[in-house]
Amino acid sequence: MKQAYILVTAGVGVWVLLTNFPTFRSSSELAEYLFMFILVAIGEVAPVTIPRGSGTVSVSPPMNYTVTVLCGPAAGIWVNALATLRKRDFSGQVPLKLVLFNRGMLAISMFMFSKAYAAMGGHFGTLEWPRGYVAFLTAAIVDTLCNALQFSVYFSLDSGMSLRGVWRLNIQWSLPSMLALYPLGILMILVAQEAGPFLLTLFYLPLLTMKYSLTKYIELRLAYHEMAGALSNAIDARDAYTRGHSERVAEYAALLAKGLKLTEDRIEMIRYVGLLHDVGKIGIRDAIMKKQGTYTYEEYEEMKKHSVMGSQMLEGMKFIGKGQDWVKHHHERWDGRGFPDGLKGEEIPLEARIIACADSFDAMTTDRPYKAKLTILEAKEELARCAGTQFDPEVVKAMLKVVDRMISAGM
Ligand SMILES: [Fe+2]
Ligand SMILES: [Fe+2]
Repeated sequence: MKQAYILVTAGVGVWVLLTNFPTFRSSSELAEYLFMFILVAIGEVAPVTIPRGSGTVSVSPPMNYTVTVLCGPAAGIWVNALATLRKRDFSGQVPLKLVLFNRGMLAISMFMFSKAYAAMGGHFGTLEWPRGYVAFLTAAIVDTLCNALQFSVYFSLDSGMSLRGVWRLNIQWSLPSMLALYPLGILMILVAQEAGPFLLTLFYLPLLTMKYSLTKYIELRLAYHEMAGALSNAIDARDAYTRGHSERVAEYAALLAKGLKLTEDRIEMIRYVGLLHDVGKIGIRDAIMKKQGTYTYEEYEEMKKHSVMGSQMLEGMKFIGKGQDWVKHHHERWDGRGFPDGLKGEEIPLEARIIACADSFDAMTTDRPYKAKLTILEAKEELARCAGTQFDPEVVKAMLKVVDRMISAGM
């Protein structure tokens, strides 16, 4: 399916390119065109990478629109498809079919832009008020959506993530900054129209600033990820028996959340909080953390404090939001006999019920100082036995399916 999609897009793109070959009336027109081609190519250097995806976002669209409106559809289609080529496209780093696929996507969306622009009464060569402006905005929206849709389909086929999930996680956040580029596109066209394309160089400062802030946003997301990973390693390192515990809990909880059809945003947040669910153990004394054998009543009471301590540690971390509560309540039980607040049933946040189930499953399937691990089948039985008492029955149902999938995948 994915291969067919790639081939069809690349094929249609090549066809669009070959049937729309740019022509120029004079050598100065050609020189202006080449200059703008270079500007687009510069804007494409070091593009912004989309989180968790393999795609990139660039700030060249207004420049591409300028070329299309002023030099005509064929010129725009060629710029959009070819000025966006980068070093990695030539070095073999990107497979040829993907290079062609990307060119295809870009050629198709600029083709759609020019069709929408013409259909709305826009003229090529000049941008006329008011009709040309309306035509331009319509065409820019068509191009953005066409691009986003083509990319989402590809990423969804590639990752197995739902189309809606890809849209929410990788596309939605970038749309407002794309919309901000439309008025800039109009301004660029007007400047090039009145003062010639060479003055367009002036626009590169704000464009690069915008690009910088996009890059920073993405770096920040990555930094959160790495920080959560580092913290979870620090937690697990305190106890040889729980090595990798937080990471596994995060993974199981994310699979569970996916099984329960939660949105991609929630799944991602559950993964983060899963990594940090035992962060409060950092504040528990070594004598208790490293104790071999069962706890005394007092020791157990002290150990229990880790959920509240953990949520306090996460206080003020805006990014975690409600995740603080999930940490606090990850040892609550469906029947109300858990801690710290003895919440019952749906009083416990769903995410906390999910993390609780993932947490216990990992505890069951790994060796602990006080007990040997259960086999996967025994753990499944134990989960089913505790549905409705310790765990939310719906969450257990989903967890059993996750476990079945892990077994068939050879865990
Ligand atoms: Fe815990
Ligand atoms: Fe835990």
